[in-house]
Amino acid sequence: MSKILLISGSPTSPSRSALLLDYAASYLKKHGLEVTSISVRDFPAEDLIQAKYDSPAFTGFKEKLTEVSGLVVATPIYKASYTGSLKALLDILPQTALRGKAILPLATGGSPAHLLAIDYAIKPLLAVLGASDIQQGVYVVDSQFEYTETGFTLDPELQKRFDESLERLAITVKALDR
Ligand SMILES: Cc1cc2nc3c(=O)[nH]c(=O)nc-3n(C[C@H](O)[C@H](O)[C@H](O)COP(=O)(O)O)c2cc1C
Repeated sequence: MSKILLISGSPTSPSRSALLLDYAASYLKKHGLEVTSISVRDFPAEDLIQAKYDSPAFTGFKEKLTEVSGLVVATPIYKASYTGSLKALLDILPQTALRGKAILPLATGGSPAHLLAIDYAIKPLLAVLGASDIQQGVYVVDSQFEYTETGFTLDPELQKRFDESLERLAITVKALDR
């Protein structure tokens, strides 16, 4: 079974971007992928801030990365870019850690003003780690989230685009494993 890793870059909880990942996890599982999820919150802050590359706290993460063919990377927009904690986590990886992997970036922001952060900030960050198959990302503005008792809803057009992105990723990851 093809494997995929979901990375949450939000340092806070609850988190809208993490909710998008929860949705992605159930969608991708339903479409036959084995999903593992991690968050920047799972790692000791000191190890992240001090870039302790050899910390045992990162061993499982690095191993998991070698096993998957695809990732979904979600981040809130902080100061027009990805969060510092996501950057700190990716900084501990070797230069080619994302080579050969298909990646879907997701971002949530307080305003549409930083919609292009996926293209000018997040994609270059993933590319420098060797990723070449970076899919068109999905950007959700806070006002587009409608909280419900069981989670959230998005407006139908946005939900459709999100589902299509996940479907494309699932197809790509399976093709990479063939
Ligand atoms: C420190 C900080 C900086 C932020 N900077 C921006 C920003 O530059 N542009 C923007 O659109 N939203 C900005 N926001 C709003 C968040 O991106 C937005 O609320 C997001 O959905 C939060 O995601 P989360 O719930 O997953 O943490 C900022 C929020 C915080 C806490």
